[in-house]
Amino acid sequence: MTAALEVEGLDVRFGLRGRRGGPPRFVRAASEVDLTLHHGRLLALVGESGCGKSVLTEALTGLLPGNAETRGRAALRPEGLDLLTAPEPVLRDEVRGRRVGLVGQSAGTFLTPTRTIGTQLREAVRLLDGPEPAEVLAERAGLPAAALDMYPHELSGGTAQRAGLAAALAGDPAIVLADEPTAGLDRPLVDRTTDLLVDLARDGKAVLLITHDLRAVRRIAAEGPVDLAVMYASRIVESGPAAEVFARPWHPYTRGLLGALPDEGFVPVPGHPPELSDLPSGCPFRPRCGSTACTDDPALVHHGDRAVACHPAVPA
Ligand SMILES: Nc1ncnc2c1ncn2[C@@H]1O[C@H](COP(=O)(O)OP(=O)(O)OP(=O)(O)O)[C@@H](O)[C@H]1O
Ligand SMILES: [Mg+2]
Repeated sequence: MTAALEVEGLDVRFGLRGRRGGPPRFVRAASEVDLTLHHGRLLALVGESGCGKSVLTEALTGLLPGNAETRGRAALRPEGLDLLTAPEPVLRDEVRGRRVGLVGQSAGTFLTPTRTIGTQLREAVRLLDGPEPAEVLAERAGLPAAALDMYPHELSGGTAQRAGLAAALAGDPAIVLADEPTAGLDRPLVDRTTDLLVDLARDGKAVLLITHDLRAVRRIAAEGPVDLAVMYASRIVESGPAAEVFARPWHPYTRGLLGALPDEGFVPVPGHPPELSDLPSGCPFRPRCGSTACTDDPALVHHGDRAVACHPAVPA
């Protein structure tokens, strides 16, 4: 497997306006995040709302707001350009759209309302020196040809997501980050979109799919080159080949998420995640866990191609 992007020890925190004279306050949206995107594989990133998934994509594309501080490394392979410290002109002219394509969480809102989808796609192809014409991109993204003549407000949510995906592919980036591209779609469209992302991986791209839809991930994991990373309260708590993690989840939070699937008992994880402005120093899942063997150490430890942040959970 060839790495396309290696994230190591990524911390992102946002400064909050505290009381005058009081201690500085922060929201920790990413803590010691390690993950690797490989050419030819799709990494599905799942976790409860607000755990830091979108912030991760913003950190990797230089789109964090001014009150954010980052630490760690996000190295683009092969040359190792660090996306966390690269100057904005490099990110703008060489990275975004050309090497890293981003389908944002509300892709439709990134489209200009007063110009047709076709005009915008053709412009993206021209600006990014894209190898494929707008019509081919539209077809690859599953966007109906008729949508090219439409304005953004004329598109359904699902079609707007596809237009966002087509635009993200315009510069033929080797890495595609898709933040909840299936939110709000019905099941057949979810399947088509996730199949499309798996096809991009099969074509050699490195794909990150952020989603709440574990059922969709389980479906593509059965046959595709799919990995899974589970995020909880700013940390990756488990990762590995998705089919293996589905068959044998190790972390209590992963077991809880999978147990909440409709055909796995439909039992939600009891309790609530902690406030990211008030994270405990040890394992953030401890108050919801109930394990009696807890070591309260949140470090992600690798075991072959799997990794987990709960040491008693690793089978002997
Ligand atoms: N500019 C900011 N200043 C302060 N806090 C922020 C800022 N941007 C994001 N956050 C906080 O960072 C945390 C992570 O947000 P993020 O949008 O990454 O969550 P998410 O996992 O993508 O959630 P969802 O599944 O709902 O999209 C949240 O607590 C959010 O409030
Ligand atoms: Mg999000």
